[in-house]
Formats: sequence, C-alpha cells, structure tokens
Amino acid sequence: MMEVALFGAGRIGKIHAANVVRQAGVKLRYVIDVDAAAAAALAAQHDASVASAETALADPQVGAVVIGSSTDTHADLIMRAAAAGKAIFCEKPVDLAVDRARTCAAAVQRAGVTCMIGFQRRFDPTFAALKERLVAGEIGNPEMLVVTSRDPGAPPVEYLKRSGGIFRDMLIHDFDVFRWILDDDAVPLYATGSVLTDPAVGTVGDVDSTAVTIRTKRGRLAQINTSRRAAYGYDQRFEVLGSEGMLQAGNHKPTEVVAATAASVSEDKPEHFFLERYRAAYALEMAHFFDAVANGKPVRTSIDDGVKALELADAATTSWCEQRIVEL
Ligand SMILES: NC(=O)c1ccc[n+]([C@@H]2O[C@H](COP(=O)([O-])OP(=O)(O)OC[C@H]3O[C@@H](n4cnc5c(N)ncnc54)[C@H](O)[C@@H]3O)[C@@H](O)[C@H]2O)c1
Repeated sequence: MMEVALFGAGRIGKIHAANVVRQAGVKLRYVIDVDAAAAAALAAQHDASVASAETALADPQVGAVVIGSSTDTHADLIMRAAAAGKAIFCEKPVDLAVDRARTCAAAVQRAGVTCMIGFQRRFDPTFAALKERLVAGEIGNPEMLVVTSRDPGAPPVEYLKRSGGIFRDMLIHDFDVFRWILDDDAVPLYATGSVLTDPAVGTVGDVDSTAVTIRTKRGRLAQINTSRRAAYGYDQRFEVLGSEGMLQAGNHKPTEVVAATAASVSEDKPEHFFLERYRAAYALEMAHFFDAVANGKPVRTSIDDGVKALELADAATTSWCEQRIVEL
C-alpha cells in the first residue's frame, strides 16, 4: 500500500483527493493546509489525518506527495519532497520564476524521483484522441494550430495580483498544448493583450484578453487566443490543419439534448468551467501518475514540460510588456 500526503485542500485539492482514494493500492494518509478547517474537512471526508508538512515528509510510509496548494508553495514543496525521496505530482505552474523552476527540475533529477506536472489537458479524452489520430497520420503533416481558450469569467483581483499574470497563470496550459500537439519548439513568438472584459484587471497590471502568434523551428504556425470571459461558458477548442486535412477538438456539453422549436434549434452550453470540463482528465492523470510510480515508467507531463511551458509564458510576458517579437 502506498501512502500519500496531499498539500492543499482548496478547489483542485478536493478533486485530487477524490482521485487519489480511487487508486488501487494507494491510501490518502495526510492532508496539509494552512487553512486548518479546510484540511480537517477534506481529511475527514477521506479517512485521512491532518498533519504538518514536516510530519508528512518525514514519514517513511509516505511514498508520494500530491501538491495542489497555492502556486507560491510549489517550488519549496517540490524541493523538500524530492530531498525526502518522495514521488511528486505537482499542479502547474512549477513556479512563477523560470530560474526557480529550473532549480526544482535539477533537484528532482538529482534525487531520481518521479515528478509529474498537472497539465491535465493532455489526458482529456477528446484532446488525446485528436493527438493519437494526428500521430497516426490522418491529416498528413501538421502545418497550423489554432487554440481557443476562454474562461467563463475572471477570478477576483486579489487572485490576479499574485497569479504572475495571464500568460503564466492561464496560457501556461495553452503553451503546453502547443508543445504537445505540434511536438516542436517555438522560435519567434509575439504576444499582445488587452483589457476588454473588466477594467479592474488593468489596475493590477494584467490583461484579460490575449493573442499570441508563434512560428516553430520546423516553420509551422500557431495562434492562441484567450479571454477571461465568455458569456456562454468555458470554451476550450483547438484545430490542426495538416497537408491532408484538419482535426478539430471541441467543447463538451453536460447533455446531448437538442431542442428544436418554431423559434430556434438549441443545445446545452459547454460545461461550465475546468472542474466540470476536465473531470475525466483529472482522474486519468492521477491514474497515470500512480501507474508510473508503481511500475517505474516515465510520466507523460514531466517537470521539464513544466519548465518549458513556463519559458514560453515568460517570453509571452516579455513580448507583451515590451511590445516586440521575442526570439527563443
Ligand atoms: N490544472 C488545473 O486545471 C488547475 C486548476 C485549478 C488550479 N490549479 C493550480 O492549483 C493550485 C491551487 O489552486 P486552487 O484553485 O485549488 O486554489 P485554492 O485557493 O482553492 O486552494 C489552495 C489551497 O492551498 C492552501 N495553502 C496555501 N499555502 C499553503 C501551504 N503553505 N501549505 C499547504 N496548503 C497551503 C490554501 O489554504 C488553500 O486551501 C494553483 O497552483 C493553481 O494554479 C490548477
């Protein structure tokens, strides 16, 4: 039986706890959160104990940690868990600073532990099926990628202040999708942004709408458009144009009911937000992590992927701030 310590009992921590306890041969032993009430409630729900980080990391029965606490805790916890020889699953981003993320990757490598970063989109059944068909050659050689990524609404300004900006907080997932789908490196990147949905976003120096253009080493082109607001819900789509056709991955709907009346033909809006849209992906990524740990297999989203997505987020931030094309 592998025992697990979970850091963070917030939105994503709750999802991960539920997925950890589903794994055969795995027990959720500890929940750690600076919010004592949140830790106690989640621990009670899953028959686990509340503990300090020190206790959990010093317990030799704990074979793995799942880090779902606030972003500014990730790097420190990765380094401490690696030093303690634990397998690590950590939410994105590794850190807000590329240097510190690279230091974490080096610590993980030195310790020789498994470290997976939570880029769950690679596990989404629709996105993964598209990738499989792309690799199988169904549309020939991929030439262009268009990613659309829109949230139903912006988070509170208090959150935005500490988020590292939209490119590191939100587009980090889209940069990972770009790397994964095209299996190529960005060369020049141009990012622009605007405050279109809420002036409050601009008061903390951030933007809520972005457009990013990338050319890859092999000359492929990618465009990523994002917004913190979409009146119709969470909009997560992308399409790949290849030499022999196109593959599109669309939104999921809560039901497939179509209502046709004299006025219109309508169907459900997309699933509301990430907790609903990526429910299956979160479950599949956790199963993949524990399978990799149990069987000594490599993980699909490594800490190096975490560092590379952050490098793109940094380049995009620079591009936007300095209004110039950045060469990578
Ligand atoms: N992959 C995804 O789709 C996805 C989705 C949401 C959030 N995230 C990431 O997960 C992390 C948490 O996000 P959230 O939305 O769950 O936030 P949240 O605010 O709901 O939860 C964070 C929790 O961490 C706790 N915490 C803060 N400092 C801590 C510490 N030192 N030790 C232990 N716990 C501590 C907080 O008290 C809080 O309960 C963020 O890094 C975020 O980027 C990823």
